[in-house]
Amino acid sequence: MRILVTGGAGFIGSAFIRLALAEANDLQIANVDALTYAGNLENVASVSDDIRYTFIRADVADATAMEAVFAAVRPEAVVHFAAESHVDRSILSPEPVIRTNLNGTFTLLEAARRHKTERFVHVSTDEVYGSIEEPHEADENYPLRPSSPYSAAKAGSDLLALSYFTTFKMNVSVTRASNNYGPHQFPEKLIPLMIANALEAKPLPVYGNGLQVRDWLYVDDHCRAIMAVLERGRAGQIYNIGGSRSLPNLEVVRRILAATDQPESLIRYVSDRPGHDLRYAITSEKLELETGWKPQHEFEAGLAETVQWYRDNAAWTANVRSGAYRDFYEKNYGSR
Ligand code: NAD
Ligand code: TYD
Repeated sequence: MRILVTGGAGFIGSAFIRLALAEANDLQIANVDALTYAGNLENVASVSDDIRYTFIRADVADATAMEAVFAAVRPEAVVHFAAESHVDRSILSPEPVIRTNLNGTFTLLEAARRHKTERFVHVSTDEVYGSIEEPHEADENYPLRPSSPYSAAKAGSDLLALSYFTTFKMNVSVTRASNNYGPHQFPEKLIPLMIANALEAKPLPVYGNGLQVRDWLYVDDHCRAIMAVLERGRAGQIYNIGGSRSLPNLEVVRRILAATDQPESLIRYVSDRPGHDLRYAITSEKLELETGWKPQHEFEAGLAETVQWYRDNAAWTANVRSGAYRDFYEKNYGSR
């Protein structure tokens, strides 16, 4: 199968490419990525010489570029990861988020429609459901109440993708995963930022009281779920992908401090994120029943592996944290 992966130089897309090429034989992958601040070719360095793999630098919101990519690659399937993926950045600067997450998805759907691409998996997030009160869990029919420009743009792109099933009978499925963690994650999200700071004995900025709850999913478990949806998911359907491991942020931070042998005095309570969702919670029962998928990684083991990866790859972190990253953090958050 010829697969066009978008955003494959990022955290989850690169994990998907590495895993797919390691496990499947009759596969060709073209990775289209604009290499924004979060895109990093080091994440796909291990497959760069694989003859089944090609990289194309292009912007998914550029219709002319996407037409050329589809004409050259002739994909049988699209797995669409490319996005501006960080809530805090979407609050500071919503414009690129709308452009990539909404217009980019539209551009890809149109190219796939013109080229009669057989399968389209749109990778989305549980954040589209917004904050969920205890003891409820969102299933795929739960109302959409996104809080941030990021999650609102993802919700819009989900609806657009599903409309291409309803209107044009395209074979589209949407996945909505919970918070991912694992190696190669850009150190702006909670877990990699806290690990990177702890390893350098820098302060760990906890928003508000730190009691917000997230459901943690190891990145390879997410990628296996996407493969299951690609192969066996039904057209026009949404699939939640949860990690079955809910923890308050403060608990996650404490575990990272313990795993890195650092004191709790490194914790800094900082001002809260505007519109901060208190709790995410989903059920993945539908995916489990239809495909047999289940998350394989216990949080304790996954976190230990992740901390070890950041210990072993200090040069990767130093590289992504230099230059523009440092300027961005100094300008927006002090030197955090
Ligand atoms: P990431 O920020 O690590 O990577 C995003 C990638 O997209 C980067 O390589 C970047 O260069 C590329 N990109 C951005 N704009 C582009 C454009 N206009 N054209 C082409 N490429 C572009 O993100 P991630 O964490 O790997 O997330 C991947 C997908 O998974 C996103 O769609 C996100 O919404 C979704 N998701 C993420 C999480 C999570 O916890 N990280 C959870 C659920 C869903
Ligand atoms: P994040 O990793 O940005 O993911 P999301 O907002 O998509 O869930 O944040 C996870 C949680 O951690 C969220 O409740 C915000 C909180 N957080 C902090 O307390 N401090 C930080 O520096 C960051 C990045 C996040």
